[in-house]
Amino acid sequence: MTSLHIAGNVDATLVSIIEGGNYNVVIALVDENTREQVLPHVPCLRKAPVIEIPSGDDNKTLATLTQVWQDLERCGATRQSLLVNLGGGVVTDLGGMAAATFKRGIDFVNVPTTLLGAVDAALGGKTGINFNSLKNEIGVFATPRAVIVSTEFFATLPREEFKSGFAEMLKHAMLDSCDSFSRLLAFDFENIDYESLLAQLKTSLQVKQRIVEQDPTEQGLRKALNFGHTVGHAFESKALNEGNPVPHGYAVAWGLVVEVVLSHMMMDFPSSKLYSLARFVKDNYGVFHITCDHYDELIGLMQHDKKSCAGEINCTLLKECGEVTINNTVSPESIKAALDIYRDLMGI
Ligand SMILES: NC(=O)c1ccc[n+]([C@@H]2O[C@H](COP(=O)([O-])OP(=O)(O)OC[C@H]3O[C@@H](n4cnc5c(N)ncnc54)[C@H](O)[C@@H]3O)[C@@H](O)[C@H]2O)c1
Ligand SMILES: [Zn+2]
Repeated sequence: MTSLHIAGNVDATLVSIIEGGNYNVVIALVDENTREQVLPHVPCLRKAPVIEIPSGDDNKTLATLTQVWQDLERCGATRQSLLVNLGGGVVTDLGGMAAATFKRGIDFVNVPTTLLGAVDAALGGKTGINFNSLKNEIGVFATPRAVIVSTEFFATLPREEFKSGFAEMLKHAMLDSCDSFSRLLAFDFENIDYESLLAQLKTSLQVKQRIVEQDPTEQGLRKALNFGHTVGHAFESKALNEGNPVPHGYAVAWGLVVEVVLSHMMMDFPSSKLYSLARFVKDNYGVFHITCDHYDELIGLMQHDKKSCAGEINCTLLKECGEVTINNTVSPESIKAALDIYRDLMGI
C-alpha cells in the first residue's frame, strides 16, 4: 500500500520516511534537469549517491534501465536499500521499474517534480519503459513505498510542461464533479497560486486513487481514466507521424473536447459545459488543426489504439461531470460528426 503525502515540505517528509525505514543505502535517481533544479532543494539527499539518466521520453529505454541497474550495483544497493525517484514521469516510470526488478525488488519513493508526474505518473503502480518503438511496452505494476506530492518544484517547470499536466487534472475534475470542473476552469496560468494548486492537486489525486484502488490492474473501471485519451492519442500519434510532436497533455485537452462532444451526442451531456470546456482549451492550449481530409487517418489511429478491441473504437463518456460510463463503442460516423463539431467550436 502506497502512502500518499501531500506535502508543503518534501525534505521533511522524506526524512521521516527514511528514518522509519531502516535503510542501509538511500539513492537518488534524477535526470540532468532535476539534478540541477530540484536535488539542491532536498537537503536530506545531499550525501546520497546519485544516479543520473538523460531526460526525455526517448530515453525511457532498456539501455537506460540497464545503466540504472549497473549504477545500483555500483552504489552497493541491496534489498535493504531505498531508491528515491526525483523527477517527472520518465524518472518515476523507469526508476520504479528499476527498483521493482533489482534483486527482485527494493523499496522506492516517488517524488514527482512535474505536474503530469504529480497528477498521473507517480501514483497508480504502473512502471515501465518504451520498447520496439512502442510506448510503455515493457513494465510491471509495482507499488512505491510512498509518493510525495508537492508544488515546491513547479516554478522552474517550463509553462508548456505545466499546462500539459493540467490537462490530466481537468480530466480528473470532469470524472469527479461539476464543482471540481468549474473550479479548474477558473485557473489562472499567468498568476499561479501554488498553495491553492496543492489543494486542487489533492482532490485530483483522490479521484485517481479512488479509481485505481477499485481496479488496480486495469480490468474495468480504470478505463475511466482513459477519458479524452482515445481521441487524444490519435491526435498525438498523427502529430508525431508528421514529425511535429505535441505535448501529451495538449493532445488530451483537444481529445477531451471531442469526447465531450461525443458525450453530448450520445449521453446528453449538457451543452453549456461543453462550450465552457472548448473555450478554456482554445484559450490555453490553442487548437489542433485538422480538416475533413484527416478524418479517416484519425479513425484508423483510434481503431489501432491499444485500448481498442477488434477494430472497434472504445471511449469513456460522461452523462454529466461525475457520471461516467466506460466501454462505449463509437461508430466512425459518430467520430466524424464529433470532429465536425470540434472544428466548429475551435473555429477551424
Ligand atoms: N505510470 C503512469 O501511470 C504514467 C501516466 C502518465 C504518463 N506516464 C509517463 O510519464 C512520462 C511523461 O512525464 P513528464 O511529462 O513528467 O515528462 P518528463 O519526465 O520527461 O519531464 C518533462 C521535462 O521536465 C523536466 N523537469 C522535470 N521536473 C522539472 C522541474 N521541477 N523543473 C524544471 N524542469 C523539470 C524533465 O527533465 C523533462 O525535461 C511519459 O514517459 C509517460 O509515458 C506514466
Ligand atoms: Zn494521459
